[in-house]
Amino acid sequence: MATRTHFILLLMVVVIASSVQVHGNLSPTYYSSTCPKALSIVQAGVKAAIKKEARMGASLLRLHFHDCFVNGCDGSILLDDNANFKGEKTAGPNQNSVRGFNVVDNIKAQLEKACPRVVSCADILAIAARDSVAILGGPFWKVKLGRRDSLTASREAANTLLPGPNFNLSALISSFSVHGLSLKDLVALSGSHTIGLARCTVFRSRIYNDPNIDASFAKSLQKKCHKSGNDDVTEPLDFQTPTCFDKLYYDNLLKRKGLLHSDQELFKGSYTPAKSLVKKYAQDASAFFKDFAKGMVKMGNIKPLTGTAGEIRINCRKAN
Ligand code: HEM
Ligand SMILES: *[C@@H]1O[C@H](CO)[C@@H](O)[C@H](O)[C@H]1NC(C)=O
Repeated sequence: MATRTHFILLLMVVVIASSVQVHGNLSPTYYSSTCPKALSIVQAGVKAAIKKEARMGASLLRLHFHDCFVNGCDGSILLDDNANFKGEKTAGPNQNSVRGFNVVDNIKAQLEKACPRVVSCADILAIAARDSVAILGGPFWKVKLGRRDSLTASREAANTLLPGPNFNLSALISSFSVHGLSLKDLVALSGSHTIGLARCTVFRSRIYNDPNIDASFAKSLQKKCHKSGNDDVTEPLDFQTPTCFDKLYYDNLLKRKGLLHSDQELFKGSYTPAKSLVKKYAQDASAFFKDFAKGMVKMGNIKPLTGTAGEIRINCRKAN
């Protein structure tokens, strides 16, 4: 009996110790004494921005993803180019594509008024992503906080590390596994494409050359996205409900109506583990929501700067 109790205690210690290591110093209550209004300030800013333009929820969610995949969730995507480095905003996957910087600036200005130099830009992105998803009808999760901001950014890293719309399944899997994200994380987090828009230039080859697409779906897109020109014409990633965070992205994949080649790679050919996850999420929105929230917490834990590393930026666009 005694040894069994000891064993269970030991097991608990091991489990707790390993989870502490995995999650660094991040904690959901990080600002509860230093800036108790932090979460409500971000939420109000996100709400107002989405009210003004529903797409902004999608844009804010994507900013957090593109931040985390490039040298960790450290606010590096928010830095403008300067004399010392070319930043991430003008990397291929970001240029003329990522948006929402003014919304982040407005939220940051409010936070600086309420609690100067306390809340990092990297954390603003994590909270704004969570709130965007929740406001548009998706799941809510406890967002872990305490990330600090980088002093620098890397265009080259952004070009190398962000997955592209023409990636095949194995390239997608390896792009996620670099960050410790599993196939399940890949399929669940790709469900982000239940909201937002994409430009003609990123899905043109899919609608003209990809065999794995519904013919009438391709035809209707070809009317808007021509073989040349119209590069910046946008279409919804989920043609059914682009401002609603629901499971219809997966229903679309079952019908070969995913907008991006990379989307449809998750549901293609004969049986694959990715395919069965897509089927599962199309049948069960709550399974999707649960795995999505888990995946977001995992993604938000990619290499955060903590302790004395980095800084709390005053202006998200430049180091102090
Ligand atoms: C799996 C690999 C992924 C690829 C290849 C990919 C690629 C893309 C591309 C090409 C666009 C359209 C960009 C444009 O037209 O300028 C887009 C939009 C978007 N992506 Fe992804 N993405 C991936 C995963 C993710 C993840 C993990 C998230 C979030 C956690 C995400 C969130 C979004 C959102 C919300 C939009 C719409 C943004 C807006 O309307 O402003 N994507 N993605
Ligand atoms: C996937 O893409 C990679 C990189 O472009 C390529 O090397 C690989 O052969 C492709 N795999 C499949 C199964 O098509």
